[in-house]
Amino acid sequence: MALVLSNQLISLTFVLHFKQTINLKSNIMAFTLPALPYAHDALEPYIDTTTMQIHHGKHHQAYVDNLNKAIAGTPNENKSLEELVKSAGSISPAVRNNGGGHWNHSFFWGILAPNAGGTPSGNLGDAINAAFGSFDAFKEKFAAAGATRFGSGWAWLIVKDGKLEVSSTPNQDNPLMDVAEVKGTPVLGVDVWEHAYYLKYQNRRPEYLGAIWNVINWDKVSEHFANASK
Ligand SMILES: [Fe+2]
Repeated sequence: MALVLSNQLISLTFVLHFKQTINLKSNIMAFTLPALPYAHDALEPYIDTTTMQIHHGKHHQAYVDNLNKAIAGTPNENKSLEELVKSAGSISPAVRNNGGGHWNHSFFWGILAPNAGGTPSGNLGDAINAAFGSFDAFKEKFAAAGATRFGSGWAWLIVKDGKLEVSSTPNQDNPLMDVAEVKGTPVLGVDVWEHAYYLKYQNRRPEYLGAIWNVINWDKVSEHFANASK
């Protein structure tokens, strides 16, 4: 009797240890949804609370989950997100779409903030004036890139060959990708998928693109610009 119990105990211990090992492994390997750096309602009235809840909690979570599924058990599961994104076109459509989705949304949340907006100053302000003539001219060009991107995609401000440029990408592609038509280092990116604005703005994408300037954190964009210019 004692021997049977002892064997059961050993088996149970082994099973628990094995499960913990598996959990530990998946915790180390898997990408996770980053927390929003502000509350869901913090960007009101420019981006509504429900959109933020669904966009972050459902859409971004789905990109994270599907990216983890796409790389599990493959030689790509130990790569960083940036490594995956940079060679996404040669890996798989699933990594391109979901790796791009995870990178793009993580970047996007970081450059938004409540009580933000205004005009960029310092080196970034100077570089925008030098590249586009004025801040207003830049905003017009950026909004046009977002508004004319057919279907779903992103509008970008990038550093390319040491200069600022405006571009756009389809779906969840971004300018870091091997498949990008215009390659560069993103400094600012705005999501123009309908899921980013439809609840509040319906089909009025240009209105959303006009309102978003009120929640752009130019300090963060300046940080990206400084890093991209090194
Ligand atoms: Fe999105």
